[in-house]
Amino acid sequence: RAAQVGQAKYARYCAVCHAPGAVGSTVLPDLRRAGALESAATWSAVVHDGALKDRGMASFAGSLSKDEIEAIRAYVIKRANEDKALEAGKKIARR
Ligand code: HEC
Repeated sequence: RAAQVGQAKYARYCAVCHAPGAVGSTVLPDLRRAGALESAATWSAVVHDGALKDRGMASFAGSLSKDEIEAIRAYVIKRANEDKALEAGKKIARR
């Protein structure tokens, strides 16, 4: 499953700044609500190409393949959907 690969890669490369579990921190963007999450192209422009490198978000092209970067996006989308479901009051039996 892409989201499982993404989870492992997220924990290794992204959590240090964007917080474990993709919950977001007080200073950095909450990736679950990032505009870039909705578009594979925008996500890749930021994470692979380094579109925001002047603002402290480096390119990960040296450490992650495009497939891995897309897997991280799948993981964050999964996390975002889980939280939306929770907010809607639904019970999630298993994660
Ligand atoms: C060294 C700290 C750092 C690490 C590690 C890091 N980021 Fe970021 N990231 C940032 C900062 C700072 C910003 C905000 C840039 C800005 O203000 O525009 C950002 C912004 C982003 C955005 C844009 C958010 C939006 O609002 O659209 C995405 C997407 C993103 N990061 C994904 C990732 C992913 C995926 C990883 C792991 C591969 C990662 N980041 C690792 C610091 C980091």
